[in-house]
Amino acid sequence: MVQSITIRRPDDMHLHLRDDAMLRTVLPFSARQFGRAIVMPNLKPPVTTVAAARAYRERILEALPAGSAFEPLMTCYLCDDTDPAEIRKGFEARVFTAVKLYPAGATTHSEYGVTGIDKVASVLDVMQELGMPLLIHGESTDPAIDVFDKETVFIERTLKPLLDRFPALRVVLEHITTEEAADLVDADTSGRLAATITPQHLLLNRNAMFTGGLRPHYYCLPVLKREQHRLALRRVATSGSPSFFLGTDSAPHERGAKEAACGCAGIFSAPTALEAYLTVFDEEHALDRFEAFASDNGRRFYGLPPNEGTVTLTRERNDAPRSVELGDGKSIETFMGGGELPWRLVDHSNA
Ligand code: NCD
Ligand code: ZN
Repeated sequence: MVQSITIRRPDDMHLHLRDDAMLRTVLPFSARQFGRAIVMPNLKPPVTTVAAARAYRERILEALPAGSAFEPLMTCYLCDDTDPAEIRKGFEARVFTAVKLYPAGATTHSEYGVTGIDKVASVLDVMQELGMPLLIHGESTDPAIDVFDKETVFIERTLKPLLDRFPALRVVLEHITTEEAADLVDADTSGRLAATITPQHLLLNRNAMFTGGLRPHYYCLPVLKREQHRLALRRVATSGSPSFFLGTDSAPHERGAKEAACGCAGIFSAPTALEAYLTVFDEEHALDRFEAFASDNGRRFYGLPPNEGTVTLTRERNDAPRSVELGDGKSIETFMGGGELPWRLVDHSNA
């Protein structure tokens, strides 16, 4: 049995870092594992301008532990009234790496999101011309749709027409959760469509939210699905296809905001992310494909050079904490902390 694995330093292609005290608390967990991260713009207020993204990037860099070479890659939050000139300016100035599309009302802080693709067509035209990726939260916001069908309905009603209308637009379908999404991305031969997959959607099915009672710390969006979908995600993630890559969607919320009458969506996986993914590849007998998923497929899609340095993980009880302190008596529950995982990140060099 393999006891240790060393891979090129990976990237997290979907990460929520938040701001202020939360940022300072959660950032070191990502920075010790990943070389770069695609940073989500759903702050309050959202990151919608080049100036706001530059300022947020500065706050992230200031919050980094001394000596860390972690690089935050910034995204722009797409609104109905986003000016295409601002997108072009941000991309050309190397401030915006990508644009994030939240259907209005789909998830946490998505209230300023897009109400219809027609509204943003002129932005998408410019992005298509620039080769700038559009990152999509792929869920229907039609209140009549069953919560477990929101992704498949979005694919049929919105994503497929969008891909037809903008045939050269580069798209990442974020945090996919269904067999239908996995099949759609797998079937694409153009190389312009890709998907991120979270650790929780590879490790858990929707039963996890209801085991012995209501489990708010397993609630995220898109919500966990049935076993058939988890198996499909594991299949494509470990298949070696370059269209699927690591994006944790680590989304910290303070404990009280999750253990509430109307609890927030989001799972804080940053402290255990790499070990959680590795557990999946180990179980699937696909350790030889772990590096592609974690360190190569994503950065190739984004046209980024490989990271310097490596990370090493060994087969031993994971020592990540169950919960992380925020100060003022507040804390954040960690995904699969407290020894639940059989791999541990031991060494990281940044050559
Ligand atoms: C994210 C958050 O909390 O910002 N929540 C989540 O459940 N994934 C938003 C998102 O990515 O949908
Ligand atoms: Zn997210």
